[in-house]
This record gives sequence, C-alpha cells and structure tokens, in this order.
Amino acid sequence: MNRPAEYSSEGSRATEAPAFAPAFVPGGDLTVLGIETSCDETAASVVRLSPDGEATVLSSVVHSQIDDHAAYGGVVPEIAARSHVEMIDGVVRRAMADAGLDYDALDGVAATAGPGLVGGVMVGLSFGKAVALARDLPLIAVNHLEGHAVSARLGARVDYPFLLLLVSGGHCQLLEVRGVGDMTRLGTTIDDAAGEAFDKIAKALGLGYPGGPALEKLAAAGDGARFDLPRALLGRKDCDFSFSGLKTAASRLAQACATDQDRADLGDAVQTAIARQLSERSDRALKAYAERHDHRLFVVAGGVAANRTVRATLEATAAANGFAFLAPPMAYCTDNAAMIALAGAERLQKGLTSDIDTAARPRWPLDEQSALADPVHPPGRKGAKA
Ligand code: KG4
Ligand code: ZN
Repeated sequence: MNRPAEYSSEGSRATEAPAFAPAFVPGGDLTVLGIETSCDETAASVVRLSPDGEATVLSSVVHSQIDDHAAYGGVVPEIAARSHVEMIDGVVRRAMADAGLDYDALDGVAATAGPGLVGGVMVGLSFGKAVALARDLPLIAVNHLEGHAVSARLGARVDYPFLLLLVSGGHCQLLEVRGVGDMTRLGTTIDDAAGEAFDKIAKALGLGYPGGPALEKLAAAGDGARFDLPRALLGRKDCDFSFSGLKTAASRLAQACATDQDRADLGDAVQTAIARQLSERSDRALKAYAERHDHRLFVVAGGVAANRTVRATLEATAAANGFAFLAPPMAYCTDNAAMIALAGAERLQKGLTSDIDTAARPRWPLDEQSALADPVHPPGRKGAKA
C-alpha cells in the first residue's frame, strides 16, 4: 500500500506522517466522514470522491440550534458549545446509518478546525480526532471557509479554477480558487459580513433570528425605491466590501418605520443595496480574473447565496462579463458537513492530512499569505473573523 510521501497541514506544524495515520491507496474512490460544529449547526455527512473529482453525498445530517438561540436574537457561544456536545454523537451516528456504512468503509475523518466559535469547533474537532484514533483513520482538519469554497462541487460537476464570492454570516470574500489549499483572496470585508448586515438590520426591523431569510420574506411585499441608502466604497479600485454604514443607516430608518408596509419597503431597499454592493465589487473581480483565465466560471457560496435577489443580481453580473454562474443547491449554501467532508476528501486525495494535536482556531484566514501581506484588519480582537 502506498503512503503519501509527505503529510502537511495548514495551521499545524507537522510534515511527517503521524504514527496513528494508516496508509491509504491514492487513485481509488475516497469515502470521508465530515463533521461541522463551527457555529449553530451540528452536522455530519459522508461523501465519496472519485479519482476524477466527482463527489457523491451519501448522507448529510444537519441539526440546527435555531430554537436554542431564538430567544436571545443571535447565537450564544456557550449555549452553542453545550448543544454541540449533546448532539454530536447522535448526528454522526445518523450520518453513518443514512450512508449505510460501517466505520471500516471510511478512508478518513474531516472536521472543521476553524474559523468559528471556538467552543463549538473544539467539540467537533475532538469528536473527529476520537473517531480517527479509534478507527485508525487519517484526520483532516478543514477550514470552514474552504468547505464553503468547494460546496458548489456537491451539486454539479465543477472544475477548478473558478472565481468565488463567499458570502455568509461571518465572511464576505472574493477568492480565486484553484483547488483545496490553493486559493488567493482578491477582496474581503473591511467591517461586517453581508450576512451579519442582513441579521442586524432584520433585528432592528423586529424580525426573528436568523434575520436573512426573514428579511427576504418581508422584502417580497415591499418596494424600496423611496429609500436612499448609502453606497459604500463606490469608485474604489480594490475588491473589498463594507456594510457597516448601510447597517447603521438602515437601523436608524427602521426606528422610524410606522407601518408593516414601511418595514417591507425598507427590507426591500436593504436587500437591493446588499445585492448591489456584492455585484459592484464582484464586477471588479470578474474583470481582473478574466484577464488571467479563459475558463470563466463565477461561483457564489455561503448562507447569503440562498437569497434569491442576491443570486439573480450576481447571475446578471456574471453574464454581463461572459462568465457562467453557479450557486450550490440551497441545502449546501448554509452550514453543512457535506462541504467539510468533500474538502477533506480533496485534501486526502492530495495527501494532505493533519496531526492529531491540531488545534481549534477561532480565526483562520483561507489565504494566509494575502491576509499577512495585506492586513485589512489589524491583528487583535476587533478584526473580522477571518
Ligand atoms: O453560511 P452560513 O450558514 O453560516 C456562516 O458560515 O456564517 O450563513 C449564515 C448567514 C446568516 O447571516 C443568514 O442570515 C444568512 O446566511 N442567510 C441569508 C439567507 N439565508 C441565510 N441571508 C439572506 N437571505 C437568505 N435567504
Ligand atoms: Zn458557514
């Protein structure tokens, strides 16, 4: 049996094969258990990856903690971590049962190792380590953002490279994706993520948590033309985002809304403004990307990609630039473990596995080189999550 010549892992120091990791034969199908616990979903999934890159989801179980957090209007880290501890065992068991597989059928175990709420990340990562140790399987520590980056490959045949807009509750980034462990960040948010803006403005409008889907529903009955919301970073030559001005302006306007129609109109204006900024900044990145690549594919992933107005606006922007457009199936836009299992399988295929002592990381930029060379956020507690 062949063992990859060299093991390496982002964020951990090892380059030698850990003693516990068994050999596997590169070249065959790889079946990987994925575990995701970085925010408020406890998720497990089994994905099979063929040698030519085709992914099959054998199972995908997501336990949402929305009900646990609803009363607080947002995710409470301590409640999230406790709930992950209670649920992880059953969720993984169900994912294995739904796949109809025994642990012997696995080639590896992938778990989110960050970025995210570190108490939750530790639960899933520890569980993954335990399965890896007990079953003598390689562990693959996966960056949650890398999971979102590969998620479009769960629903369709998608070849690398592509331009990715990753737009979720914690992140808003444009990335050139050439494969796992091989991505360049073209732009990121200098303050809030788009999903965070949706959530906070929704809260100001009196909507429940999570705010994004609730605001989309509200906006369907509105016409936002009467509101003039700020347009951030217009004319800037980079591909960065900013949503804090919009969030402040919209939250103020929300205080003055007297009727349901006022609120629906403001919701529509906010949704349009967020979609417009995503489109304007993506347009810059698409043009820059097109100068370097003939294979023109624009992928949008992350929770906010579930928003129909956002999707339609970005699809039009892609078409105007001669790009094909793809968004993952809705179930794989928001947090799930199938994307973690797939990122893990792709890493395993490249011989990239992780040490058993890999640490959970609350912050973990996908493209660490760009993040270090061009720190949009100074280091410290106040920077963006990635
Ligand atoms: O990817 P995700 O599940 O978790 C993170 O990694 O952040 O994204 C969650 C975010 C939340 O901010 C949520 O409000 C937003 O995605 N979201 C939406 C919609 N569905 C989820 N935002 C706007 N419209 C939606 N339909
Ligand atoms: Zn996510």
